[in-house]
Order: sequence, then structure tokens, then C-alpha cells
Amino acid sequence: MDDVKGMQIRTAVLPVAGLGTRFLPATKAQPKEMLPIVDKPLVQYAVEEVAASGIPMVIFVTGRGKEAIENHFDVSFELEHQLAGRGKEDLRSLVRSIAGLLKVSYVRQQQARGLGDAILTAQGLVGNEPFAVVLSDDVVDASTPCLRQMMEVYARYGRSVVAIQRVDRRRASNYGIIRGILEPDRHGDGRVFRIQDMVEKPSPAKAPSNLAIIGRYILTPGIFHELAATRPGAGGEVQLTDAMRRLLKREPIYGYEFEGRRFDAGDKLGFLKATVELALKRPDLGSEFRKYLKSLDLS
Ligand code: G1P
Repeated sequence: MDDVKGMQIRTAVLPVAGLGTRFLPATKAQPKEMLPIVDKPLVQYAVEEVAASGIPMVIFVTGRGKEAIENHFDVSFELEHQLAGRGKEDLRSLVRSIAGLLKVSYVRQQQARGLGDAILTAQGLVGNEPFAVVLSDDVVDASTPCLRQMMEVYARYGRSVVAIQRVDRRRASNYGIIRGILEPDRHGDGRVFRIQDMVEKPSPAKAPSNLAIIGRYILTPGIFHELAATRPGAGGEVQLTDAMRRLLKREPIYGYEFEGRRFDAGDKLGFLKATVELALKRPDLGSEFRKYLKSLDLS
């Protein structure tokens, strides 16, 4: 295991094979990852975070009906040609820049068997090195990208790191929940926990704490061995949390309470909050939108 310490994180795995049932009917014929917050698809927020964190490669774990994601990150000659013909150079370069963000690969998950199974599907492309996982449902707005913050923790410890956030215990059954011990301040800035145990989607009564796993992970390649041995758990799916729980028996895993604001865009209310808050921050829309919101009678 120690041979992966000090290795660069070169790859981010983005599982995008999920059915998106929470957003039906919008997701009947389009991937949920393509739903826009303001004017940018969810998955692009995730890819931009990967790029801004200095990770050069993305592996999408896709499934049936997800071709729009491949097209989104590819060059669109027809569209560029038309935009150029109409003198819309700024839009043309915007469209082109998306294709140039990162080196992208795709692998297909044949059945929706869960997050753990999706990650295992990427094993052949990741190889024997540490890698990141980004769930595009979780949009994190932060001055230093969340993954970048986690890479700094990884550089210090050389072990797997998961992003964590304090949540209302009553909502524990939406998350993987950890039990951990705060690292001494000198090493951890009061934000790093050494994980003792973790459980996927516990009832509030059984939750070991209020520290929830958020969709950002840096994993050592040892996780693949554990994923291959993990049987379906919560919801009948192969859970990444269960595989990490197994990995914990062989190597330490850290939880990092990141700095920034996280939106659960996989949930309708969370999606609305992200839309409002990110629109307010937009230089081209923010002040008009603020005026509009203030004009509403919300009593
Ligand atoms: C997944 C993970 C869960 C984690 C969550 C974060 O669940 O299985 O441990 O807390 O992402 O968003 P999902 O939301 O895909 O059901």
C-alpha cells in the first residue's frame, strides 16, 4: 500500500449511469447530469471542479441514454460553424472551451447496480494508482475547489480521504455517515477526522454521528479489491461506503470537513436553492435577479 503514497492524483471518476428518477419527467429522455443550474449542466460544474483542482483526466462511467454527456464534452463542428457564421465568436469559443477542459474517457456500466459497482467498472482505466471520485449531484461552491482541498489532505496523509459535512441527524438516512476522531490541530486544522467506522444510509437512531459523506472522494487503489468482494447492501446496491468500511480494516481513511457551500442538486429543493444562490452570484444576472426576488411578496 505504501507504494501509492506521494503519487499524484491524475484521474477523476464521474459515475453518471444513474436513472435520475427523482427528476422525472425531466429525466425521461435526458440525463439528470445535463439538467442546468442557470445555464450550465450539473456535470459541467463537476468537470470544471476537477480541472480547477489540477486533475488532467476524467473517466465517465455511463449507461444507456447518456449520449448527451459524451456530446457535451466533444467538439461540435456544426454548432461552432453556425455560431461563427453569425458572428457569435464569444459563444463559439465558449462551446469550444468545454471540449478542451480535460482528457475524457468513457466506460459503460451495464446494469445500475450501485455506486460501488460503477467505481469498480472504472478499474481498468484507473489502474493501480490513487484517484478521485466526484458525484455531480453534489455541487460545491468554494473559493478553493473542494477536490483541491482534499488533495492537500491526501498529500499530507497518503491515504483515502472523503469529504464530510455536518447534517441534521434526522436526514442521516440520505447519506453515508462516519464515526471519527478529530486529528490533532497541528496536522488537521480542526477539519480532519480519522475515521473509525462508517455506515451507509442509517436510520437517525442508528447513525454513529452527524458527519455525512459528501460526493467527493480520493481513494487508494486498494478500494478495487474491496469493491470486488462487497455484496449488495442498502437499497440492494453495491455501496462504496461498504467497500470503504472493509478498506478501513487494512488502511486508515480520513474524513475532511471541507470549506465551502454544498448543494444537494439531486434533490428538488436542493436544486432550487443551488439555482437561486448561484444565479445571485452571476455577474451578468445577479443584481437584476436580486431586485426581482426582493420584489416578491413572500409573506
Ligand atoms: C451517495 C453515497 C452516500 C453519500 C452520498 C453523498 O449516495 O452512497 O454515502 O453520502 O452519495 O451525496 P446517493 O446520494 O447516491 O444515494
